[in-house]
Amino acid sequence: MSINGKVALVTGAGQGIGRAIALRLANDGADITIVDLNPEKMNEVAEAVRSTGSKATVFKADVSNRNEVYAAIDHTEKELGGFDIIVNNAGIASIQPLADVTPEGFNRIIQVNVAGVLWGIQAAAKKFQERKQKGKIISASSIAGHEGFPLLGIYSATKFAVRALTQAAAKEYASAGITVNAYCPGVVGTDMWVEIDRRMAEITGAKIGESYDKFVGGIALGRAQTPEDVAAFVSYLAGPDSDYMTGQAPLIDGGLVYR
Ligand SMILES: NC(=O)c1ccc[n+]([C@@H]2O[C@H](COP(=O)([O-])OP(=O)(O)OC[C@H]3O[C@@H](n4cnc5c(N)ncnc54)[C@H](O)[C@@H]3O)[C@@H](O)[C@H]2O)c1
Repeated sequence: MSINGKVALVTGAGQGIGRAIALRLANDGADITIVDLNPEKMNEVAEAVRSTGSKATVFKADVSNRNEVYAAIDHTEKELGGFDIIVNNAGIASIQPLADVTPEGFNRIIQVNVAGVLWGIQAAAKKFQERKQKGKIISASSIAGHEGFPLLGIYSATKFAVRALTQAAAKEYASAGITVNAYCPGVVGTDMWVEIDRRMAEITGAKIGESYDKFVGGIALGRAQTPEDVAAFVSYLAGPDSDYMTGQAPLIDGGLVYR
């Protein structure tokens, strides 16, 4: 219960890793704002959060829209009476050879994965400073934020960018008592990987499931990652045990990429 009574906003919390983070932080005692694009999914997660005894509110926002991100934080403060933690988790994948990347596709993934994180960082820091309080900013990077993978080139570029923003923001906001960190999962069996595997099959001729199995086969601990594995580390980043940590983006991948 180390974050008992705190208020956390999680983006992309309608499913997958974001959903698991919302539930973990709720079980840790925090009240939660669920931000995503799909109201039905958000409402299901809100009910699950409430069943832990924590409060939940939902806010539909596209993280690539700066105004909507600011509005989500205002909503959080109004509905839950505070604001202590943001998890910039929302992200999309893009799977194709570099030769096939178009300006439209490149702009979209930059807008969601990079600008979406930037708006979350700046809006959260502004609110923490207005409220004259400390705060925790946590964002989703990836193993692909430490190493470029074939067919995932522009996705990797966005996740490297999340690490750059995390380092710069950590330095800019340290004196305000705000810490900024990221988490770098490996291969998590969510809808995102279903899509990555499907596209890899389409491009390479591999069977459905083969690319996923190949990646999982490279994991030292011998199994795919669960959303709960990621959420456990985010719980640490959200809580007081990580107070002396800032500007970091550790790998939590079962032993796949070593830095
Ligand atoms: N799945 C993995 O193996 C893996 C590995 C490393 C990093 N990550 C990162 O973790 C994060 C979560 O991944 P996931 O596997 O749970 O993905 P997912 O596709 O299962 O879920 C992503 C959620 O984000 C939401 N979302 C997408 N674009 C949005 C936008 N513009 N505004 C608001 N919400 C939006 C979606 O609606 C969805 O609910 C992503 O940033 C992803 O890049 C995932």
